[in-house]
Formats: sequence, structure tokens, C-alpha cells
Amino acid sequence: MKRVAVFASGSGSNAENIVRYFMDKPNIEVSIILTNNPNAFVLDRAKSLNIPSLVFNRADFSKTDKIVDVLIEKKIDLIVLAGFLLLLPPRLIDAFPNKIVNIHPALLPKFGGKGMYGMNVHNAVVENKEKESGITIHMVNEKFDDGKIVFQAKCVVEESDTAEDVAEKIHKLEYEHFPKIVEQLL
Ligand code: GAR
Repeated sequence: MKRVAVFASGSGSNAENIVRYFMDKPNIEVSIILTNNPNAFVLDRAKSLNIPSLVFNRADFSKTDKIVDVLIEKKIDLIVLAGFLLLLPPRLIDAFPNKIVNIHPALLPKFGGKGMYGMNVHNAVVENKEKESGITIHMVNEKFDDGKIVFQAKCVVEESDTAEDVAEKIHKLEYEHFPKIVEQLL
């Protein structure tokens, strides 16, 4: 059995999509969903999907081994960041070398870095009059949006598209590709 831990800070639609994708696969499971946000909707999703969840605070995350210990105890094979907004502490990256993957809702290296998440990214893409956007799935290091890129997929941005339109196109690409790339990485 391969075990996945998903980190999310908000809605968690990607987290849910990944859980559902692996539900009927006997050899892979999402074992836990973790969040830094006690009000995140991903917690409701975890409950209805019957997946254990854990809320942690920033100090425990970055200054103690609590989270690393949970992940080791649960024998996690791959950590998936799906809309998770905190930088990972070195202790976590060192404990899971090359086993942490993130999805970014743009074509990195464009529109990455601190503050570039969710709608901020799509607003910037529209303001910049980009002709295309897309998703980037990459391994995680100690910087924002900086690790080795493992997959990208593109979509067209029409002149008439709003940031919300772009977000919808990006979510479609995320739902289609992210679980499959996670599966390949396992
Ligand atoms: C996703 O579009 C993901 O790519 C993005 O946040 C959204 C979360 O949506 N991540 C980042 O911007 C990371 N820099 P979800 O909570 O519905 O899965």
C-alpha cells in the first residue's frame, strides 16, 4: 500500500479530487489531510470523505517535529500540496527528500513566488494580457514555486476571459492531470 498525505489551506477541491481518484485503486490511499487553517472547507470535505484530518498551527509546523512525526508514523510515501499556502520548513523537506509535490495554477517560472496563489495568479495573468496560462506540477524545495518541474499543461486565455474564467479552465486541467501525476510519482 502506498500512502499519500495532502496539505491544503482552503477549499480543497483538488484534495477531494485526489481522494476520489484513489478510492477505487486498492494499492494507493490518501491517509490524511492536513491544514494550517481551522476554517478551511477542506476539513468538511475530509469529514464527508471519511479521511482523517489534522489542523496545526504555524509554530508547531515550522519549529517542532510534530507534523514530521505524524507523517513518519503514518508511513507516508508522498506529500501532496494542493492549494497549501505556507512555505515548508527545512525539517519537513529534509525528512521527505524528493517526496513532496506541489501544484501551481500558472506556467512557472511565470507568475510564481510569494503572494502568487489562487485568484492572485489569475488576476495577474489577465492584467498582463497573457494569451495562455496553465498548470505546473513540481517537486518542492525551500523556496516558493522553485523545485524541479515534472509536468505542465496549457490552456488558451481569450481576450474576453475574466480571472474567474481562467480559474475555471485551470481547475479543469488540475482535476484531469494532478491525480495521474501523483500516481506516476508513486
Ligand atoms: C489551486 O488552483 C492550486 O493550483 C492553487 O490553489 C488552488 C486551490 O484550489 N495553488 C496555489 O496557488 C499555490 N501557489 P482548491 O483548494 O480548490 O484545490
